[in-house]
Amino acid sequence: MKALVLSGGSGTRLRPLSHTMPKQLVPIANKPVLAYGLEAIAGAGITEVGIVVGDRIDDIREAVGDGSRYGLRVTYLEQAAPLGLAHAVVIAREFLGDDDFLMYLGDNVVLDGIDELVARFRADPCDAQVTVHPADPREGGLAVLDADGRVTAVEEKPKNPVGNLALMGIYVFTPLVHQAVRAIRPSARGELEITDAIGWLIEQGHHVRGHHYRGFWRDAGLIDSLLECNQAVLDHVGPRILGKVDDETEVIGRVFVDERATVTRSRLVGPLVIGPEAIVDGSYVGPYTSVGEQCVIEDSSVEFSIVMDRALIREVRGVHGSLIGRATSVRAAAEPARGGHRLVLGENSQVLMA
Ligand code: DAU
Repeated sequence: MKALVLSGGSGTRLRPLSHTMPKQLVPIANKPVLAYGLEAIAGAGITEVGIVVGDRIDDIREAVGDGSRYGLRVTYLEQAAPLGLAHAVVIAREFLGDDDFLMYLGDNVVLDGIDELVARFRADPCDAQVTVHPADPREGGLAVLDADGRVTAVEEKPKNPVGNLALMGIYVFTPLVHQAVRAIRPSARGELEITDAIGWLIEQGHHVRGHHYRGFWRDAGLIDSLLECNQAVLDHVGPRILGKVDDETEVIGRVFVDERATVTRSRLVGPLVIGPEAIVDGSYVGPYTSVGEQCVIEDSSVEFSIVMDRALIREVRGVHGSLIGRATSVRAAAEPARGGHRLVLGENSQVLMA
């Protein structure tokens, strides 16, 4: 079985981060979102992976390479424009051949593997298998299952959902899906929807099964769910202090400090991770925070946040539940500010003042 991983798209709901970084590379506990999916795929014993990429191909290629670090063989498949999830299947036709395949949306994060759903399909094949989880289906797709677990209806972004089972971005397809993606027409938002292709299979009388996923799952294409993913991963962080942490620093709970990081005169309350070459001085770094490579945090306090590589936080107290983008600076004004806060923010930035 091959895997098709979708890492194109535009990431509109993650602006401004997605202006300069594909959403699949936003870090969760200092590891890109996409890595969690690739690890799950490798864990299920799949090695041949096609990654669908859009105009951010260079960033994705730099992060994933040939896939060998995950034990995968990766082929990049270029999608000229984000014309929909079913369109990605159309352009992957040659790569997929006539094999069954796992389709995995690159912004989905699962923390409990996908072995069971892949093994189930292998042991008891059906025409297509979708994965479902109790969640608000209005953000994505809805699946309706009968008592035997057969999918009887699906709907994309339902306004008035008739159930509480969300479609996860993890599907197993047989070659029948190639007929389906050719039979459907673009939706109102101009995309070829995989949900419509699944609906077509159901209408044609094919057996589409719903598999209940019992573990942790989020669509990390939304800001709140990114922070929730960060929290869930940090809950299992292995506490290790490898870097320089001075005697004036207090360390409480599950704290990981990279061997090339330096922490002085600070208070670290885990779970948290501090990445390579980061410098923390005179600061409080609180629970559920990940601090990326080469970040500088001085005389500040930060908690429940994702601080990305090369960000600077200086003399600022009370950073909470925040996403601080790469090479961003948040700092106190050098002189008492005349008239208020000075903000230099890119398009679609958000600042919530307490
Ligand atoms: O996360 C689960 C949801 O994913 C499902 O519940 C929905 O039924 C499904 O349609 C999908 O909804 P989203 O609105 O979240 O899809 P999104 O546009 O975020 O795209 C999902 C992934 O596929 C993401 O990694 C970007 C990539 N993509 C997207 C499009 C539209 C592509 O590679 N090419 C594309 O053309």
